[in-house]
Amino acid sequence: MSLSKQLIFWYLQNKRELPWRKTKDPYRVWLSEIMLQQTRVAQGLPYFLKFTKAFPTVFDLAKAEEIEVLKLWQGLGYYSRARNLHFTAKYISEELNGVFPKTYKELLQLKGVGDYTASAIASICYDEPVAVVDGNVYRVLSRYFGITTPINSTKGIKEFKELAQTVIDVTQPGVYNQAIMDFGALHCKPQNPLCGECPLAESCVAQGNNSVKELPVKEKKVKIKKRYFNYLVPVTEDDQTVLKERVGKGIWQGLYQFPLVETKKETDKKELIEHNQFVKLFPEKTTISLFNKEDIVHKLSHQHLITKFWVVKTTNVSEKTMSWSKVKEQPVPVLIDKFLEEYLNEES
Ligand code: ADE
Repeated sequence: MSLSKQLIFWYLQNKRELPWRKTKDPYRVWLSEIMLQQTRVAQGLPYFLKFTKAFPTVFDLAKAEEIEVLKLWQGLGYYSRARNLHFTAKYISEELNGVFPKTYKELLQLKGVGDYTASAIASICYDEPVAVVDGNVYRVLSRYFGITTPINSTKGIKEFKELAQTVIDVTQPGVYNQAIMDFGALHCKPQNPLCGECPLAESCVAQGNNSVKELPVKEKKVKIKKRYFNYLVPVTEDDQTVLKERVGKGIWQGLYQFPLVETKKETDKKELIEHNQFVKLFPEKTTISLFNKEDIVHKLSHQHLITKFWVVKTTNVSEKTMSWSKVKEQPVPVLIDKFLEEYLNEES
C-alpha cells in the first residue's frame, strides 16, 4: 500500500472528531487553520467555538469592531494574526461578496494566508491537490524517508514541500493532508513516538537505522550581532592619513584599517568628537564630515557591521601618518578597500 493510503487508513480509524472537520465551509476551515498555527488542537478548540458563536459567518466577523476580535483572540498570542484575520474578513465580505477564492494561488493573495493555510483551504474545501507542510508533516516525512536536511533551511523547505507534493493522494487531498497532520500529532510524536505499533514501521528509514530521535534536523539559527563601526579617516595638512594594523583576535586580524571607534549604538558627530579615543587621536581642532551619507552594512556570517567613515581634517594627529600611495599597498578588509576606491576617486 502507498504511504498516502496507509496514512488515510490509519486516519479513518484514529482521527479526531473536530467541528471544522464536519464542514467544507471555507470560513470555518480558514478560521481553524489560522488558530491552529498558534496552538495545539486541544487549546485551539474553545477559541474556535467562541469565534464561530460570536461570528457565525464571514460577514459577522467583518462587521465586528477590531477590539472585539482581539478580545476573543486574547490568550492565543501573536495579535497581528487576529488583525489580519479581521482585515481579510472585511475584504472577502466587502470586495468578494463573502465568497472565498477557490484556488491555492488566489487564496495565497489574501492577507495573513501563507503557503500552509492556502494549501489547507484549497485541499480541504476544494479538493485541489496541494500538500500542506507543517511541523507534523516535517516530522513524519523526515523520519519515514530518513531525510536529514534541516527543516528550517531554504533547501529543506523546498525539498520537503516537493516531497510532500509527490506523496499526496490526489484523489482525496484534503483527507490526506489532515491524515498526515493527525498522524504526526498523535502517533509519530516529537517525544515518545509509538514506533512499536507503527503501521509504517516496515518501510520507515529512521526506524530501520535507529535515527527516529534525531529527526527532523533543525538548524540552529545563529543570532546576528550588530556592531557599530566608526572609522576615523585622518587627513593632515600635507595630505597624509593613519592606517594601523588590526590587533587582537577576531575578524580581520593582521589587516590594516583606519583608527576605529566602535560604539554600542549608532553615534553622531557630537558624541563622536567627545569620545576619548577621538580626543586622544586628535589633540587639536578638526573639521569632521561623514563620508557615506547612508550607513554601510557589511554582512559577515555572525555579525553585521554598521559602518560610518568620518573624514577628519586636522593639523595634528597623535599617530604615525602615512601617504595614500603607501595606504594602497597595505592589506585591508574589503570594507576599507571599497571606501578607498570611492574616496580616492573623488579626490583625484
Ligand atoms: N493542524 C492544523 N490544522 C490541522 C488539521 N486540519 N488537521 C490536523 N491537524 C492540524
